[in-house]
Amino acid sequence: MNDSTIMRILFLDQSGKMGGAELSLLDLAKDHRKTGRVALFQDGPFRKALEVAQIPVTVLSQGAPIDVGRDSTGWEALQQTGALLKLVKRAAALGQDYDVLYANTLKALVVGALASVLCRKPLVYHLRDILSQEHFSRSNLRLAIFLSNHFARHVIANSEATRQAFIQAGGRSHKISVIYNGFQPEDYQRPPEEISALRSQLGLSSTDYVVGHFSRLSPWKGQHILIESLSYCPKNTVVLLVGEALFGEEDYGAQLRQQVEKLGLGDRVKFLGFRSDVPSLMAACDLVTHTSTAPEPFGRVIIEAMLCGTPVIAAAAGGQRNWWNRARRAG
Ligand code: UDP
Ligand code: GLC
Repeated sequence: MNDSTIMRILFLDQSGKMGGAELSLLDLAKDHRKTGRVALFQDGPFRKALEVAQIPVTVLSQGAPIDVGRDSTGWEALQQTGALLKLVKRAAALGQDYDVLYANTLKALVVGALASVLCRKPLVYHLRDILSQEHFSRSNLRLAIFLSNHFARHVIANSEATRQAFIQAGGRSHKISVIYNGFQPEDYQRPPEEISALRSQLGLSSTDYVVGHFSRLSPWKGQHILIESLSYCPKNTVVLLVGEALFGEEDYGAQLRQQVEKLGLGDRVKFLGFRSDVPSLMAACDLVTHTSTAPEPFGRVIIEAMLCGTPVIAAAAGGQRNWWNRARRAG
């Protein structure tokens, strides 16, 4: 395919941080670096990662983030109308030069829906969330369904669980298809010398049994469950918590540290913060755990651990439940 036949896509994302939705977009946008552009509502490390990958990027706003998160109400969202309209105007102006607007997150759907009307371009929504009350307030659920049904030309679900929740919440079934996130297996093959060097850098001995958890620190990602379980495990079990609080959940990070102290596990839990060497760290683990307390929409970390060849334990819920059922049927 030459460049003139590739659709020009303006990708919209609300965050400047490196969450799973952004890492998935980073992979996708690499195939569109010549004709597409990513427009972010916030500056941050994600912008830098896009630049390193030579993907054109524009930051639409330098101000405070628009908060239409899990617990916010419709009224709070309304209070931010001014900031929202500015984003819409900028996205619509940029959109003139593209064939399609693509919204990678819920806030991007809000902005993208209005911008697509202004610049008269079709909108595709990549739904990476399970639209249920476990994850969203009622008003945000209604908003997501309304905008998807009336403004999106098509909705891409990141798993069958995400698709089903969309339909159950009132989304139109003919509008949504499942496309799983793609991975490059070779990115997850690390040389054994690198892995053993990393284990010693981390102060891990050959007799330690290393359990990794790779996720932003957030109550629904359930790091507290892993810490509690550790108190029942043999003394040579060590936990690596890889990730930091990304979306205003710093209090949870502090609670986890207190929990570790209270249980006397200070020498067996290592808080590593956000890391960009996840494949090597996963390969350095004996086990990876996934402890989300609500169904995980897709769960990149589960696939990544398997690609690294490290056993992984995850709840049979959300995105991974379908793979599990399929694997069981296949024997
Ligand atoms: N991740 C990372 N560095 C960290 C912790 C996590 O790069 O310190 C990556 C992890 O490898 C995965 C992503 O962040 O690719 C998290 O995606 P996932 O789908 O598991 O969860 P999300 O945060 O999107 O809900
Ligand atoms: C979201 C979901 C996560 C998924 C990621 C990429 O962040 O919470 O489960 O893996 O998007 O699609």
